[in-house]
Amino acid sequence: MKTTLRYDSANMLSHRVGRFGAAPEDLRGLRNRLARAKRAIVERSEAGEQGWLSCLDDAAMVKRIRDLVKKKAAYRTCLVIGIGGSDLAARALSKALKPGEKKLVFAGANTDPDELAGILSELDLRKTLINVISKSGDTVEPMATFLIVRDRLERRAGKRQAANQIIATTDRESGSLRELAEREGYDTLPVPKNIGGRFSALTDVGLFPLAYAGADMRGLLAGGRAQRDAFLRGKPEKNPTALYAALQYLAYLKRRRIHVLMPYAERLREFAFWYRQLWAESLGKKTDRRGNVVHVGPTPVAALGVTDQHSQLQLYVEGPNDKIITCIEVGTFDDDAALPDSVSDIPSLAYLKGKTLQDLIHAERKATVTALARNKRPNGTVHLPNITAETMGELIVFFELATAMMGELLNINAYHQPGVEEGKRLTKQYL
Ligand code: PA5
Repeated sequence: MKTTLRYDSANMLSHRVGRFGAAPEDLRGLRNRLARAKRAIVERSEAGEQGWLSCLDDAAMVKRIRDLVKKKAAYRTCLVIGIGGSDLAARALSKALKPGEKKLVFAGANTDPDELAGILSELDLRKTLINVISKSGDTVEPMATFLIVRDRLERRAGKRQAANQIIATTDRESGSLRELAEREGYDTLPVPKNIGGRFSALTDVGLFPLAYAGADMRGLLAGGRAQRDAFLRGKPEKNPTALYAALQYLAYLKRRRIHVLMPYAERLREFAFWYRQLWAESLGKKTDRRGNVVHVGPTPVAALGVTDQHSQLQLYVEGPNDKIITCIEVGTFDDDAALPDSVSDIPSLAYLKGKTLQDLIHAERKATVTALARNKRPNGTVHLPNITAETMGELIVFFELATAMMGELLNINAYHQPGVEEGKRLTKQYL
């Protein structure tokens, strides 16, 4: 499969946005570093230190997931319990792809009792498959939620039936969830040791719930491979992902440190939250790879076009020039709605005559990026032809690679999260 995603970077460049944009010499000066960054990513993958690129070829994983989907086909709903990297991808992709065979419901990403009560009040637990996902198997939020849900299910359906309805996605050997799964005889799916939560979208973590709901898992992987292979083939300065990372990095150096992702598609609303975690947790670090204290990291913001034009855009256009904005444009939506002829009766609405909602959303994005550029606000646009499993696979790997490239350029370890771990430890201590 060929890549279909395009990155339009014109408004990130100095000829459009002046000194806040990247000049040709800035990009030329980065060429060797981009090549080194790419080499480091390839080497980490080939050495097995990182597995998020090679998992895209994992035929055994696809079979394992398909077999389990068949084995557990009896339920109408799947309750996915996880947090952070263990649930954001499935949330984003299910919103984008709208798989309709089964319903996915999400819990465990908050310990708010009112929220859980609301979710459980709408579920018939006896007709619900439970997929609890935790790589460590010891994260308090999903584990606490799971223990409550399991207890209710056991009381309603009995211990043995409850065990049939639970799938634990976790480390192959360690953690409390693994221990529990083995003791109770749950079906399990593995989280590879060499893939961190936020890079696990296209592994058993993200793919099982999506495949269960009826999404095209092979399409997602094919799209992911297309992006990866394009990245591996060409020179980094010619590759959209590497260019995206380079421009974000240059903007960061020019003190544009708030990075906004603004998809123009309701179906990509949750995708911006997946990106936000990936960018923040990977790139926000205290020390560089040599151990120097550096405190680096852009601050990602999840926005939504067109909605946030009436909420955030005023700030983006006229507030402090400390941001870069990336829009995502979807070329063709699945549906459209024509404006009725009646609008021509009202002269002030005549401009809508003959137009559709797709015309409107495209015009609004174009207007936003032009207004931003005129006010010297660097911005770029990722174009997807449409929203399918393939294009979403491309989009996921585009941002994973961009994050990895940014990590190398910043010379930090993008794959750990010591700050989060400290919070996890302290919570246990306070309890
Ligand atoms: O990306 C990450 O590594 C984190 O966001 C984790 O996914 C999150 O903390 C949940 O961890 P676990 O899957 O171990 O429950």
